[in-house]
Amino acid sequence: MVTYERAAIIGTGTMGPGMGAVLERAGTKTFLYDIDPAAIERAKIGVDLARGVLDRLDAPKVAGGSIEFTTDLAAAVSGADLVMEAVPENLELKQRVFADLVTYAPETAVLASNTSGIPITKIAEGSSAADRIIGMHWSNPPHLIPMIEIVPGDQTSTEVKDQLIGFINSFGYEAVTEREVPGFVENRILYAVLREVVELVERGIISHADMDTCVKWGIGYKLAVIGPLELIDMAGLDIYNSVGSYLNKDLSTASEVSSLITDKVAEGRLGIKTLGGIYDYNADDVKALGAMRAAKLIAVRKALEQFDGDQGGA
Ligand SMILES: NC(=O)c1ccc[n+]([C@@H]2O[C@H](COP(=O)([O-])OP(=O)(O)OC[C@H]3O[C@@H](n4cnc5c(N)ncnc54)[C@H](O)[C@@H]3O)[C@@H](O)[C@H]2O)c1
Repeated sequence: MVTYERAAIIGTGTMGPGMGAVLERAGTKTFLYDIDPAAIERAKIGVDLARGVLDRLDAPKVAGGSIEFTTDLAAAVSGADLVMEAVPENLELKQRVFADLVTYAPETAVLASNTSGIPITKIAEGSSAADRIIGMHWSNPPHLIPMIEIVPGDQTSTEVKDQLIGFINSFGYEAVTEREVPGFVENRILYAVLREVVELVERGIISHADMDTCVKWGIGYKLAVIGPLELIDMAGLDIYNSVGSYLNKDLSTASEVSSLITDKVAEGRLGIKTLGGIYDYNADDVKALGAMRAAKLIAVRKALEQFDGDQGGA
């Protein structure tokens, strides 16, 4: 089992606080660093919320873990075994951050990026530590979704990859390993689904609300238990072959984002954060909705974890 005594998270916006709470729980002394003191203040609230969720999940707690907040990069990364970068999705910014990490972090530290799709090889380009730089893509919310995509770059060493996977497994998360591909695997699947969903609603084939019901119960619930390739085996490859042979031709291949989305973006209807997007919201609804969704995700994860070790078709 791989354990890391000390870690640092660089950037404490949406993702950093939940990642930090998971590492603290794994027994790691974790430093949350941000350039913006206001982000640090918001992160303190985020960490407390994530700790509450981990309590409700009955997540195992390893002694020795802690979280400290800092705006001093050298203090955050000194002595770190693992540094996880979670700054905004911008190649030049990430390259600058990694250059600083090479300067201030120990020569043995694993340097991971939470990028959602920038190739790791590009982030590591020209770095003297390219063998230690690796993609570690958490799914949002990171304290609830126990799966992390591991994406080595061209120069990442196998030892670093294996060590990081060992660490992820040590706190009960699943690691999946991928070769570099734009968007990484999880988001490619999600965006393929979203493209078809948006097109069917735009064509008036189904209402927004019925679409959400259809996908949540018809697909989502099932997929949380039976993976897509297991599903093909369950349905029969002959069935997939015959349906796919006519249906694949009819599925969306749109390369532009649908006007259903672009028109709303132009109107400033950005979703929950503007209290209107596909649906309308009011501030009270939003709070209640967030609490309800967290409660449901916690309940589903606990229910699924009762069957841990049952790996479906494997
Ligand atoms: N939000 C998601 O759902 C999600 C999911 C998976 C991966 N990611 C990826 O994780 C990364 C972070 O995403 P986020 O949504 O948490 O971003 P965010 O914008 O919410 O937070 C980024 C934080 O980084 C800080 N920052 C900016 N420059 C910095 C620097 N030089 N040093 C230290 N901190 C700096 C900002 O002050 C901010 O607090 C991105 O690469 C994103 O693609 C996001």
